[in-house]
Amino acid sequence: MRGAGERDVVRPNPIPAEAVTSMSSMRKIVVHRAGGYEALRLETHPMPRPGPGQVLVRTGAVGVNYADVCVRLGVYESARRFVGWPITPGFEFAGAVEALGAGVTGHAVGDPVFGVTLFGAYATHVCVPADQVWRRPRALSTDEAAGVLAVSLTAYHGLLQTVVIRPGMSVLVHSAGGGVGSALVRLAKLHGLRVVGVVGAAHKVAYVGALGADAVIDKASGPLWPQAERLCPEGFDLIFDANGPETLRESYAHLRPTGKLMVYGFHGMLPKQGGRLDYVRAALGWVRMPRFDPLRMTSENRSVVAFNLSFLFDRADLLQPAAADLVAWLEDGRIAAPTIETFPLAEVAAAHRALESGRTVGKLVLRT
Ligand SMILES: NC(=O)c1ccc[n+]([C@@H]2O[C@H](COP(=O)([O-])OP(=O)(O)OC[C@H]3O[C@@H](n4cnc5c(N)ncnc54)[C@H](OP(=O)(O)O)[C@@H]3O)[C@@H](O)[C@H]2O)c1
Repeated sequence: MRGAGERDVVRPNPIPAEAVTSMSSMRKIVVHRAGGYEALRLETHPMPRPGPGQVLVRTGAVGVNYADVCVRLGVYESARRFVGWPITPGFEFAGAVEALGAGVTGHAVGDPVFGVTLFGAYATHVCVPADQVWRRPRALSTDEAAGVLAVSLTAYHGLLQTVVIRPGMSVLVHSAGGGVGSALVRLAKLHGLRVVGVVGAAHKVAYVGALGADAVIDKASGPLWPQAERLCPEGFDLIFDANGPETLRESYAHLRPTGKLMVYGFHGMLPKQGGRLDYVRAALGWVRMPRFDPLRMTSENRSVVAFNLSFLFDRADLLQPAAADLVAWLEDGRIAAPTIETFPLAEVAAAHRALESGRTVGKLVLRT
């Protein structure tokens, strides 16, 4: 975690970046090939110009997501498919509109905004389609706005666009103190669900309780599943699991009939320290990955639902209503932004190291 030891500083290259950023140049983090923290390079590049239908945003802060770690490690499928190398990671940002492309209406230069992008947000400036940018809710600081959209859109899609929920349903959320996990807890409580949050360390328990979870299990302090069975003997209606092979099999086993296992990540296959792929761990994870049998699933009335939003960026029918709801709920206080820890853009490596440790609570953002 930040402050716990020496911080990783990405050496700007080749000239101090602050000295050369001007109206004609911008700074961004570039990963030229898969690697450890040293792969995150701060570079100066020409200022992008917004094309037709785009806005140029001067970012104030950008969100860090676990997926960015996967991009750096070279294991993020949509990054490989849509961009390749080099790549600038980053899905979300907050800042102010700096320029409008041809035909853009509804935004003005200087507007405080936040938005999403399919990669490229780890930068002082980002060009994005105008409909991927929304006015920043007054209730949110720039830092909070930079860290709220990716995790909230993920939680929204999983909970409100892929399954039908009814008040009183029981949901178990793994990694409930993290970015997506805490957004899931907030959205599930907003919709009247009973929430059991699972965390991997004692220091996260109070945070998840404060989010509104009805119960919190610290799986580091005792076996997870006997506690889950005691809290919900009939089984859960929904279990959100991004751990991968560590818990998927037992998560499925703890669904009640009509229950859904919501799969959206595999972070347990990656290392918590060192910043490099552990091929043995990844291979063992792949071997241990449960294979679900449709015949059994039908008889048991249990299902597995999987999704990855980075392959859904062109689905305006999903993105626009989700963003509209989230902006309204953030504006009127029905949901709050996550707790934020900030790092300077040049210390992106320290942010990745912290997120990979599995010890962070809420969201990390980079100040640009
Ligand atoms: N499919 C999608 O569309 C989508 C979108 C966004 C995010 N995701 C996925 O959702 C998950 C959460 O993303 P996030 O950005 O919000 O991260 P995060 O939850 O803030 O951080 C990851 C958490 O996972 C747990 N964890 C378990 N094993 C780990 C390991 N080996 N390395 C690191 N963490 C480990 C830790 O919490 P505990 O120890 O408390 O469990 C850690 O805090 C990730 O798997 C990410 O890839 C998927």
